Amino acid sequence: MTWIAKPSGTQSIDTRDEPYVTDAMKAKWTTDILPKYETSHGALMPVLHDLQHAVGWIPLQAMAEVAAFLSIAPSEVLDTATFYEEYHTEPIGQHVIGICQSIACEACGHQAILDHVRSRLDIEPHQTTLDGRFTLMAMECLGACDTAPCCLVNSTRHDNITIEQLDAIIDALPDKVE
Ligand code: FES
Repeated sequence: MTWIAKPSGTQSIDTRDEPYVTDAMKAKWTTDILPKYETSHGALMPVLHDLQHAVGWIPLQAMAEVAAFLSIAPSEVLDTATFYEEYHTEPIGQHVIGICQSIACEACGHQAILDHVRSRLDIEPHQTTLDGRFTLMAMECLGACDTAPCCLVNSTRHDNITIEQLDAIIDALPDKVE
């Protein structure tokens, strides 16, 4: 197997004039998040969560802005944002459907559910439908192994899910997430 290194050193960053990290965000993070942590680095994950909630995903420019705000290296922000699957480093669809693929859900039929959604949406995990409506994710443990199989639709977890139930949930999703 050959390892392919990311061209991080020469990677260009698409930027826009308007910053992603606004003055209001900085004020909120300074008041609500930073005091809870001994170092600014400790605040990185909640800051990224808040940023993603506001923007929808975490562009490279936003990572650089977060790094500047927290006085840490941009590479530390990049490492964190790309390590945890809960952070989206590409634009996502209006609705995110995550199927747990960890061991309890695997033993309880996750593959059939995942295959069904792949087929229904005609996309693979970590892809978004062409109309931008759905992103499909294969996720690690959602913390509800005793009620496997589980899925996450947007921010709501569904336990003991069946294909029929998930179909009904997808059918009922609105065209836009407010
Ligand atoms: S393995 Fe699926 S919730 Fe834990």
